[in-house]
Amino acid sequence: MTVDKNNETVEKINVPEQKYKKSQKLPPEGFKTANDFFNYTFENKNLIWMGQNTNHLHHEDDINNAMIESIKNKEYCKYPAPEGFPELHELILKDLDLENMSVYISAGATESLHLCMHSLLEPEDNVITCDPGYLIIGAFAERFAHEVKYVPIYNKECNYKLTPKLVRENIDENTKIIVLIDPLNPLGTSYTEEEIKEFAEIAIENDIYLIHDITYRDFAREHFLTAKYAPKHTLTIYSFSKIYGMAGVRIGAVIGVEPLIDNIKNVVVNDLGVNIIAQEGAIAGLKSKPEWIDYIKNTSFENQKLIKEMIDKVDDVFLPVYPSDANMMVIDLTGAGIKAKDMSNYLLKKDIFTREGNYTSKLYGDNYLRVSFSIPTEEIKVFCEEFPKAVETLRKK
Ligand SMILES: Cc1ncc(COP(=O)(O)O)c(C=O)c1O
Repeated sequence: MTVDKNNETVEKINVPEQKYKKSQKLPPEGFKTANDFFNYTFENKNLIWMGQNTNHLHHEDDINNAMIESIKNKEYCKYPAPEGFPELHELILKDLDLENMSVYISAGATESLHLCMHSLLEPEDNVITCDPGYLIIGAFAERFAHEVKYVPIYNKECNYKLTPKLVRENIDENTKIIVLIDPLNPLGTSYTEEEIKEFAEIAIENDIYLIHDITYRDFAREHFLTAKYAPKHTLTIYSFSKIYGMAGVRIGAVIGVEPLIDNIKNVVVNDLGVNIIAQEGAIAGLKSKPEWIDYIKNTSFENQKLIKEMIDKVDDVFLPVYPSDANMMVIDLTGAGIKAKDMSNYLLKKDIFTREGNYTSKLYGDNYLRVSFSIPTEEIKVFCEEFPKAVETLRKK
């Protein structure tokens, strides 16, 4: 017999030691596991969804119709083309204005990121990424690399992003991959064309790889691809979860020159391909993008303006980055002496789902709340009413 993590006596079962140390997703107050918490958020249909950077602004449009048609036609009886439908490959390349590149369709950018780390990294290699950032990328890299450097970027000096200067300071002879999350989850910072060119130079000079995660690209005012300047040294990570609003059907891609994508095909797990319904939705999404993209971008932008106007009137909190080039932003709470976790727990009781910093930072997790805003404006207004009251209730006198 032994004692489990809930202090209960249970029969001891012998299992191999855990292969990778996975950072524990801590459940919020009142939930036994993180999964129970996410299940609660899913079941609670009244919840205002600002805790995941998903997009709730699509109406019944071509994406929705294409997936319904696919189900009606029972296409799901068959396996799809295992590397993705060629039409989808072509549409993605057209969307990015890239030529002479290969595409592999994955079950989301998350899978694409794992495939890249698995196919590129050797045990002696190092990886450079940043904190705050999308931590699972580093966790995947840790499975295959010697070391992952999380460069601290939560400060004005570097404009809250991993700059070419910071990369040069942290690079060494074992560096194999630089991860650029652009726009950055959680802060919404993005890169100028000059910065992108400089990253491309660094990759070519050192013969190393850029993993350019462009999951939030379409929310940005302007966006540039390292694949244009360092095509042989870039793997571009693409997602259908955000601007296309398809997070739940799990589809994404990775784009690169043919030999790099061939290497990725060597390490796939999803050998029988990705959900047919999702692929049909993705094809429709790419084809119909000009019809809906302005509405989604403009509404998101107006929503973040409303949040900014509200924050400006609340003492001791501030937005480190405004405007954000993604569909989320960070609210710094340190001046009010409020821990981010206390704020997110408080708001959850008001049926507003937000994210405390520790989901995207090991170093600054208490400092900030992340809120996403590609949701209906009426819901943003509810948040704007509740947040100032939350600060007054929780602030350290
Ligand atoms: C930077 C970044 N990359 C990838 C993902 C995951 O995307 P997907 O849903 O396509 O797996 C996220 C999700 O939040 C993200 O923030």
